Amino acid sequence: MDKVRVGIAGLGRLGKVHANNIANKIKNAELVAACSIVQDELDYAKKEFGVKSLYTDFHEMLKNPDIDAVAIVTTSSEHCWQIEAAMNAGKHVFSDKPLGVNLEECLQAKAAVDAHPELKFFLGFMRRFDPSYSYAKKKIDEGAIGKPYLVKATGIDPEATVEGSIRFAKNSGGIFLDMSVHDIDLMRWFLGADPKEVYATGCTFKHPEFAEAGDDETGVAMYKFDNGAIGTIHVGRTAPHGYHIETEIVGTEGTLRISPVPEKNLTMIYNEHGAVKECIENFQIRFDEAYRIEMEYFIDCVLNDEKPSVTVEDGVESTRIGFATTESWKTGGIVKI
Ligand SMILES: NC(=O)c1ccc[n+]([C@@H]2O[C@H](COP(=O)([O-])OP(=O)(O)OC[C@H]3O[C@@H](n4cnc5c(N)ncnc54)[C@H](O)[C@@H]3O)[C@@H](O)[C@H]2O)c1
Repeated sequence: MDKVRVGIAGLGRLGKVHANNIANKIKNAELVAACSIVQDELDYAKKEFGVKSLYTDFHEMLKNPDIDAVAIVTTSSEHCWQIEAAMNAGKHVFSDKPLGVNLEECLQAKAAVDAHPELKFFLGFMRRFDPSYSYAKKKIDEGAIGKPYLVKATGIDPEATVEGSIRFAKNSGGIFLDMSVHDIDLMRWFLGADPKEVYATGCTFKHPEFAEAGDDETGVAMYKFDNGAIGTIHVGRTAPHGYHIETEIVGTEGTLRISPVPEKNLTMIYNEHGAVKECIENFQIRFDEAYRIEMEYFIDCVLNDEKPSVTVEDGVESTRIGFATTESWKTGGIVKI
């Protein structure tokens, strides 16, 4: 095999990004099929990428013998059964995060992945492939900050998209399940450890609609890890300046900070507001490179018969931790994980 033939499921906000990468930016991949329950998305795949095999039913797409791998970018509640069906149909699987929406289905998906060691499974924790995050990890592994013992992660969506977040609040599963899974994964990755307990809390000051929907506008969680390290996560939905993703890792010999100012680029504008650096507007722009690099990596794993570094276990653990965090936020107590 010199090219991996991919069928994509879901061409919404993120599916379009992955489809474009597979079709146009990754030389060893080919976008041969698309599946969506929305006709416009299938029309888009045909028009933009010339995809000929179009499906409204995921199981029908899996019957296509010309597909080597599927990219699952559907609504989160669809991931687990689609992973299981694809594995059972003999396809390699790229699934976007989260692995699933509850622990039971995650474990079922893990069983399907474990039952097919001949197939590759990759979970889209793309921040690990962002050049700044992967550089930080390399520096930590080289000992640049000594032994890492504290991770402080911030993830705040832009105020510009708050209306969508408010509409989604009733069904989000709570701010931590909705927003903290990437940071949970990064903490585990940077510290090389798992959290054993969590305390989480939240508040709503600007948009009462979040509290009315049983959610919160801002959440903060603190974790104690099994190796003694500490992690804190601050998630929110109302950054006035843009899309604010920042991570600080403190070690015995130094500190690393990734994107302390979410700069759009290197341009400084001097005007009536002062010396201004514009900020990144959204996740598609911030992680554009990471989405391409992670897909390229998955394709290479398939071609070179290598097990991907992000595993189904990472998906199960991040979900388990996300639920423990949510339980603490809801009950107000410390939760053992
Ligand atoms: N890694 C990241 O940073 C990141 C960012 C955004 C979204 N995501 C994840 O990607 C997934 C998609 O998010 P999105 O924002 O693109 O959502 P979206 O709602 O814009 O798109 C999802 C699409 O999936 C399709 N779909 C739903 N059920 C389907 C089914 N049974 N078969 C075929 N198609 C189906 C729908 O047509 C829908 O348009 C979610 O799981 C989300 O958590 C990850």
